[in-house]
Amino acid sequence: MKKLHIKNYGCQMNVHDAGRMAALLHDTMGYESVEEPVEADLIILNTCHIREKAAEKIFSELGRLRKLVDGRPVIFAVGGCVGQAEGEAIFKRAPFVSLVFGPQNYHRLPAMLARLEREGGRIGDQQESVDAKFDALPAITAPGPIASVVVQEGCNRFCTYCVVPFTRGREWSRPVEAILDETLGLVRAGAREIHLLGQNVNAYQAMARDGVVYDLALLIRQVALLPGVERIRFVTSHPADMNDDLVEIFAQVESLCPYLHLPIQSGSDRILARMERGHTVADYLGWIDRLRQVAPGIALASDFIVGFPGETEDDFQETLDLANRVGFDHAYSFVFSSRPGTAAADLNDPVALEVAQHRLARLQEALQATQLEKNRARVDCVESVLVEGWSRRGAGDLTGRTQHNRTVNFPGEEHHIGQVVPVRITEGLPNSLRGRLA
Ligand code: SAH
Ligand code: SF4
Ligand code: F3S
Repeated sequence: MKKLHIKNYGCQMNVHDAGRMAALLHDTMGYESVEEPVEADLIILNTCHIREKAAEKIFSELGRLRKLVDGRPVIFAVGGCVGQAEGEAIFKRAPFVSLVFGPQNYHRLPAMLARLEREGGRIGDQQESVDAKFDALPAITAPGPIASVVVQEGCNRFCTYCVVPFTRGREWSRPVEAILDETLGLVRAGAREIHLLGQNVNAYQAMARDGVVYDLALLIRQVALLPGVERIRFVTSHPADMNDDLVEIFAQVESLCPYLHLPIQSGSDRILARMERGHTVADYLGWIDRLRQVAPGIALASDFIVGFPGETEDDFQETLDLANRVGFDHAYSFVFSSRPGTAAADLNDPVALEVAQHRLARLQEALQATQLEKNRARVDCVESVLVEGWSRRGAGDLTGRTQHNRTVNFPGEEHHIGQVVPVRITEGLPNSLRGRLA
């Protein structure tokens, strides 16, 4: 049997895509997935282009893997967002790569691989064709307790720093019926928690066959009606695409987890305007207030960029103040990375790297302190935990997630996997909780 190794980078959408590629290559060509690249006949790097570091490390990784396979005939493929953005230029930098494709083309992998086997040479495919992709992919038959469903792909927002509109293409919402069918299939196959995925998921909009126009809130109401869906989450939302119904559903839809990832990026209106985010800090805080009124205790997550061109110490201080004022349960933060083709690459007033790194360290210190405080506040609570499997740290610990999306490790048994169990929290750590079965 031919063997496939996929190395994945980037966001949750890429994780999802990698799973679908593996299923597709298994079902159509009999590829078996292996953990170790040395065993593989086909190595796919499913890449991310969001920051320079992420994109650049692909080339060193390719070099390392090539040494590792030591002259064996292995097909090297670069998929994902670097594949889309850099296209055939990749062949110049890594001539042993024979296949380059983007996130909208991987459903054609069987045809591309068959052609490579027949004719040799190299293939690059960067067409944009989202609608064809989903129809061509086989259903996921063994999803595990948490499964993701793509509801929306691409982005039309063009935040000035971001490559996603170029790598994932224009915003596209999947038909309501396709989403509901796929979700039902996943819960029938054992999934209990459904993640609705989109680069800008709350921009979802589609007209169903009966003529009703669905936004994300209405879609969530329908997903919640499917038998077997116990928990729902959706990622990632944009503050300028929020609406009142998307707040109300947190009180009205019981299976919707009290968790929202709503990136703010900066606490300075001046910087938000330069990022062309399309909202102010006050708009953002308005949504946070409404969410907390409707769903007290809702867990909030965000993303931040520091060192955006023109960011002054005062702007940065506003970001720190905002982070402390909101009190995020979880956050990702990054130093601005100038990306080719984006509007921010042409902005003046770069922030010196040392200054940006120092700001990042200060912001992360504040974010981590809040996160730890919030994790510690869970001690003695009994949380419903959906058990995902054995913890990688071993020692007979299971790992699962609370409704607020916190990771909990606790001693348990095989039969708990895939179940929702009550766990009494005994310890709040920086990035997770510990507990015991209640
Ligand atoms: N669609 C999502 C985010 C996509 S990228 C959204 O709009 O929220 C994930 C995060 O990476 C972004 O939220 C941002 O914080 C960060 N990011 C994106 N481009 C970046 C860049 N050029 N430099 C540094 N961080 C960046
Ligand atoms: Fe990028 Fe902005 Fe679109 Fe998010 S909303 S994917 S940050 S352009
Ligand atoms: Fe990266 Fe592409 Fe996701 S650039 S963040 S893998 S959409």
